[in-house]
Amino acid sequence: MLQIGRHQIKMPLRRRLLALVALVLGLCLIGGSALNYWYGLRKVDLEMSSAIEVAASAVSDALLSVTSGTDTSAQVQRIVASFDGDRHVIARLLSPDKKVISSSALERPTDPPPQWLYWLLSGEPRSRTFDLPAGLKKFGTLEISADSHNEIGEVWEDLKLKFLIIVSFCAIVLALIYATLGWALRPLEQLSIALKRVGEGDYTAHVAETGPEDLKLIYQSFNRMAAQLESAEGQNQRLNEQLSTVQEEERSEISRDLHDEIGPFLFAVDVDAQAIPLLVASNASEDVLERSKAIRQSVQHMQVHLRAILSRLRPTLLIDQGLVIAVEHLVAFWKARRPNIVFTMDIEDARFPIGIEEVAFRILQEGASNAVRHGRPSAIGLAARQTADGILRVTVSDDGAGIATKDPNGFGLTGMKERVTSLNGRMRIADREGGKGVMLIVEIPLPPARNTKDNAGPLTSSAA
Ligand SMILES: Nc1ncnc2c1ncn2[C@@H]1O[C@H](COP(=O)(O)OP(=O)(O)OP(=O)(O)O)[C@@H](O)[C@H]1O
Ligand SMILES: [Mg+2]
Repeated sequence: MLQIGRHQIKMPLRRRLLALVALVLGLCLIGGSALNYWYGLRKVDLEMSSAIEVAASAVSDALLSVTSGTDTSAQVQRIVASFDGDRHVIARLLSPDKKVISSSALERPTDPPPQWLYWLLSGEPRSRTFDLPAGLKKFGTLEISADSHNEIGEVWEDLKLKFLIIVSFCAIVLALIYATLGWALRPLEQLSIALKRVGEGDYTAHVAETGPEDLKLIYQSFNRMAAQLESAEGQNQRLNEQLSTVQEEERSEISRDLHDEIGPFLFAVDVDAQAIPLLVASNASEDVLERSKAIRQSVQHMQVHLRAILSRLRPTLLIDQGLVIAVEHLVAFWKARRPNIVFTMDIEDARFPIGIEEVAFRILQEGASNAVRHGRPSAIGLAARQTADGILRVTVSDDGAGIATKDPNGFGLTGMKERVTSLNGRMRIADREGGKGVMLIVEIPLPPARNTKDNAGPLTSSAA
């Protein structure tokens, strides 16, 4: 298994998901802050109104108990001083012209709230003024007022704690999501690298099949696809190698044919042609006639062989003249090489669409070649007949040794199968039942309005 290295690649998906979660958390934070503000405002308001009520009732009671005498001023001062250290209320003794004569001291908050929070939460100022009893009027008035600094200080403490908890929560959630996404998406990074490699033609790329179940299915499919591409590429390579070997064999066979079949006759023609002037000079007219006959025979022989070679090189030219003529040339080709084999032909004398005729001819050509090469038969039958249900049935049979290999899938049969499949046809090859040799059967469906000899389309009748 080939491991993909850990490359650093950008993952906008991860960043996007994180940003989305951060946005949701931020919105929650804003909502929470609004709720807290409303709660703080209410709390301060309630506390201050109840504090001022309690203080007012205490001051009223205290003023009732003040008796006129020598220490009345001190009694009033004591009422004011009784509010020293109070957390919410300040008491002041005011002169008739509203000057502060004395004031209680408020307990200062340990952690004073920031000014903006005080501004947000302090609300309306609350105060009450009490007239002093008769006889004490000269001292002025007594005033109590609520001071929300301590209360807002409490809200501030509370807020800081809540903020700390929420920020820690958000940080932990974001860190967990970041780590989980990293774990879940890491194989996707590998997949992206592997896909790039496949795109560049490296089909050995493989991704680890780990991570969430739904992604695992994608990785498995990718690995299967890469394996199939790899095997298809291997097969392609083998076919290409085989193709060049076949072409090489074909070339050397043609050069052998030219050398063995044409070369001696050319030589004979040359010898005969050279002899003719001498024979004419010696008036041996009989011999001249003999020599010219021999030259014609040699030329005819060469013509037959040349046609056979041409039919191998350009079979489509022959197919243009019809399947019957093409197969006749094929048989002639093999008869010249294997005179001991008896060939029988049963070919429909009709025209089919040119693509179908070509495939049918290729099947007969490769089938005959396989029979000669692999079966060493004494007879080969070539047939192409149209059945009543609109199918062209092409068969090649021989009485040779039969198929020796279990999986007969060389370049020839693979090519045949591809051609037949492209025409929606079927192909079977097997040892003949109840007899020696092999039977190759191909069935190609004919189009409903098939091109026959009478209504054929582009049928060229030019000969090679
Ligand atoms: N008529 C036959 N008689 C015996 N064996 C046959 C016959 N036809 C095919 N075979 C077997 O099937 C195999 C596959 O044939 P195929 O035509 O695909 O490949 P090939 O003839 O070996 O090579 P090439 O790629 O050159 O055609 C042959 O190697 C042979 O073993
Ligand atoms: Mg073959």
